[in-house]
Amino acid sequence: MKTYKIAVIGGDGTGPEVVAEGIKVLDAVSAKNGFKLDYVKYDFGGERYLKTGETLPDSAADELKQCDAIYLGAIGHPDVKPGILEKGILLRLRFELDQYINLRPVKLYDNVEQPVKNKGPADIDYIVVRENTGGIYTGTGGVSMKNTPQEVAVQSMVYNRFQVDRVLRWAFEYTKRRNKKKTIGLVGKTNVLTYVFDLWERAYHEMGERDYSEIRRDYYHVDATCQWMLTHPEWFDVLVTGNMFGDIITDLAAITQGGLGIAAGGNINPEGVSMFEPIGGSAPKYTGQNKINPLAAIGAAQMALDILGESDAAAHIEEGIKKTILKMDSMAAGRMGLTTTQVGDSVAENLG
Ligand code: IPM
Ligand code: MN
Repeated sequence: MKTYKIAVIGGDGTGPEVVAEGIKVLDAVSAKNGFKLDYVKYDFGGERYLKTGETLPDSAADELKQCDAIYLGAIGHPDVKPGILEKGILLRLRFELDQYINLRPVKLYDNVEQPVKNKGPADIDYIVVRENTGGIYTGTGGVSMKNTPQEVAVQSMVYNRFQVDRVLRWAFEYTKRRNKKKTIGLVGKTNVLTYVFDLWERAYHEMGERDYSEIRRDYYHVDATCQWMLTHPEWFDVLVTGNMFGDIITDLAAITQGGLGIAAGGNINPEGVSMFEPIGGSAPKYTGQNKINPLAAIGAAQMALDILGESDAAAHIEEGIKKTILKMDSMAAGRMGLTTTQVGDSVAENLG
């Protein structure tokens, strides 16, 4: 029987609870579809850091490379200064495992409440392909004369042609496979970031014109994109953008699909091991209460199967999610009308 080795990092706060529901669903669907999942658990997160002073052991990336996929709950602990765990665990894994694509589907399901008037599931269904290992996240920087009136801080947005080309290539190929409107939009800021987004824009049109003439190419400034995500989300099919802009617009996008309780993402290395996670954080105030929405984590599990090539199983999970939503009052923690474990049970029992 085909067996996949899945590394599980429950992480902080509600991370372990939502990941447990995802595993419940994965076990149900793998039994149904005739493959097996072996889980290897890792205790990386805030508690471990507070105890040992270590975010990730140096061996972590090499060990994780032996797995078929990584399933991550959440990273972020109220007693740890912001930045330490994010940079020391989540970002370090993205970089060391060279997960250069961050794939964030924006899909509104029937009966999910969201704040954009007059837009429904037919309008809100697109994908953001966020560059995930470069830009301002890994650009050089530093601080000097700290805590003096002359303090200087620098953090620069750096992209090379190789990084840009590989994410564009993946996004064009994805647009082709997705087979919806066959349009792609580059999200940038060519009117101000005249070096970095000039590089992106030239690379984009060169590649598009040469290899993907059947795909319509649009360009959007990032600020305007934020408006159009609310007023004309139906324009979008695949959006491709840099790391920082992708981070920001996908939080806005998540709200239009019902909030962070349902938004999932994949950190993808097409040639290596990928990591799947709910986009929302560790929600410390809900920890241990059986109130958090596990659908984002379950959606992340669905993406993992899709990327592993188990697309039928992934489709079964999506069916289970859709049927479960019909029983829920809201996507928000504490207002779902169901508990965390009941949501997981329902998806597992209602697979397509
Ligand atoms: C995300 C998060 C991370 C990011 C943080 C936690 C480092 O906001 O996955 O979108 O900025 O990429
Ligand atoms: Mn973010």
